[in-house]
Amino acid sequence: MELINGNAIAQTVLDELKAEVEKIAASGLVPHIVVLRVGNDPASISYVNKKEKTAQSIGMRSSVRLFPETISQAELENEIDALNADKSVHGILIQSPLPAHINETEIFNRVLPEKDVDGFSTANIGRLVQELPDAFAACTPAGILELLERSGVATAGKHAVIVGRSQIVGKPVSQLLLSRKSNATVTICHSHTEDLAAVTRQADILIAAIGRPQFITRDMVKPGAVVIDVGINRVPDATKKSGFRLVGDVDFENVAPICEKITPVPGGVGPMTVAMLMKNTLAACLRQNPAR
Ligand code: GUN
Repeated sequence: MELINGNAIAQTVLDELKAEVEKIAASGLVPHIVVLRVGNDPASISYVNKKEKTAQSIGMRSSVRLFPETISQAELENEIDALNADKSVHGILIQSPLPAHINETEIFNRVLPEKDVDGFSTANIGRLVQELPDAFAACTPAGILELLERSGVATAGKHAVIVGRSQIVGKPVSQLLLSRKSNATVTICHSHTEDLAAVTRQADILIAAIGRPQFITRDMVKPGAVVIDVGINRVPDATKKSGFRLVGDVDFENVAPICEKITPVPGGVGPMTVAMLMKNTLAACLRQNPAR
């Protein structure tokens, strides 16, 4: 069994990006991402802080805009319109989840496709399915593909089984694996899948993106499989100062010994998501400033 070290791989990606950011800084161009956060969800606060710190660590500009839970759809859309029109802003991300009274899909679609570094807009999802070069893929799925590639996991002809059909992970990662670059055979499972364990046991590459702690147990995994755990679940833990600890969607302790490779939680997929956001922001900046 080999651990896939997401922290180390993400740092390699960030080092590469930092070198590119330094190169373009000579021409006075600094990639700029703006993150919008609504309300005070603890996980969202932590994710947004991480994005800001990471951007700064590689010489990018990052701004965070905070809004109260009570912000209206129209007010939030106006904020996005202003950022769309602002030439100094290259990437825009609206941290999900948004309050229940906000139509999240309409908010994601309000962002100009060329600034949608999160890849959540209809335009970018369509471009991803069409395998167009200017598609921004959602960051967690893009991070999973980068992890597989940089860990030497071949995908062509392999059976990739994805558990979870979310817009953020399950659906886009299925498209990336299916693409002519990856050439995997893809199965997507969800809460209505009959005899789930019989399907997941066929996986050469198993991607767990359910959002339920330790849902994937040893009997659901084929010995020698590569397991990618996308879950970041907070479970109560009285021994921790914070009162919780993070566990994935995979029962790591019992599954890890039978895997060829597996990602830990934390330190697996999570750091890759942030690195890919930076990668998309740099690409957005370069595309918006072709003549330098
Ligand atoms: N919430 C959890 N993951 C993400 C993400 O990748 N992007 C945004 N915008 N919100 C999230």
